[in-house]
Amino acid sequence: MARTTSPTISHRSARLQVVQLPDPSGDESLAVAVRDGLCSTPKTLPCRFFYDAAGSNLFEQICDLPEYYITRTEDAILAESAHEMVAGWVSDPIMVELGSGSSTKTRRLIRAALNAYARLRYVPIDVSRTILETSARSLVAEFPNLRVRAIAGTYSAALASLAINLDRPKLFVFLGSSLGNFTTDAARSFLREIASVMQPVDRLLLGTDLIKERSLLEDAYDDRQRVTAAFNLNLLTRINRELNANFHLEAFEHRAIYREDQGRVEMHLVSRVDQCVSIADLGLSVEFRAGESIHTENSHKYTVERLAELARSAGLAEESAWTDPDGLFRVQRWMLSR
Ligand code: AVI
Repeated sequence: MARTTSPTISHRSARLQVVQLPDPSGDESLAVAVRDGLCSTPKTLPCRFFYDAAGSNLFEQICDLPEYYITRTEDAILAESAHEMVAGWVSDPIMVELGSGSSTKTRRLIRAALNAYARLRYVPIDVSRTILETSARSLVAEFPNLRVRAIAGTYSAALASLAINLDRPKLFVFLGSSLGNFTTDAARSFLREIASVMQPVDRLLLGTDLIKERSLLEDAYDDRQRVTAAFNLNLLTRINRELNANFHLEAFEHRAIYREDQGRVEMHLVSRVDQCVSIADLGLSVEFRAGESIHTENSHKYTVERLAELARSAGLAEESAWTDPDGLFRVQRWMLSR
């Protein structure tokens, strides 16, 4: 299939526009990531490749698991305080959501913003055009005073492409603890990137997971129904399909460990045996020793102090914050620091 090299509009109607940014190439492609990650020591694969159609579906299932407190806790915080999170502008702000996925939790913010301002422009950004388009269509059908400009692409490309009226206030939204999947340096750079397109009137709403007891954290990433295991292993299925590899899934085991020194839950795929995997499209054979792992994901957990430090280092400052009664999760509203 030919690669897209310039933005294309895949759907346009009175209240809905779907823009497809150029496909990732070079450093961002699966082939490059697999070659780099599996030829390095220790072996790694970037977690952004979890989200093909099957992976996105498994992630939706994870969000409903009893062990995965993140989604329901954040949703409860939004249910309680969405009206405060969207308050403070004279006229309707543009809501720009990074990593919107199926936009379930965002509905609460959209509803609150429409109550406060009567109309709203919503700009969801996600790598998956299919999910983006499906959820954008259903939002437009559900909210008659909503206009949607959905952008399918990477966050960096989408932020750079934001051809929206900079005179209008903007509420950037990054929920679901997604920042936790970035390394500390990448999180700081990403926050700086957002800050660089913010005006003094704009705000960033950020949902982050807090440090807590080890057993709660490890159970959240290693559930009894083994949905998270399937989600992790699906990465190998994707490499088999897209790069003609021969990973045997039963020869790898899902593992989730909380590394207290790093403040993060790590996910790994651990080889059960000595084995050699061939990745035909890359002309590559990869040796695994029994017990050797591929590190597939980091989910950083924060303290309030650590968050304040992160904000400061990105040129941002806290305006307000909301937590659940058990102190599991935190949503904060940040602004440019003066
Ligand atoms: C998307 N992200 C915030 C999830 C997390 O909690 O790190 C992905 C996930 N990985 C395993 N379970 C959920």
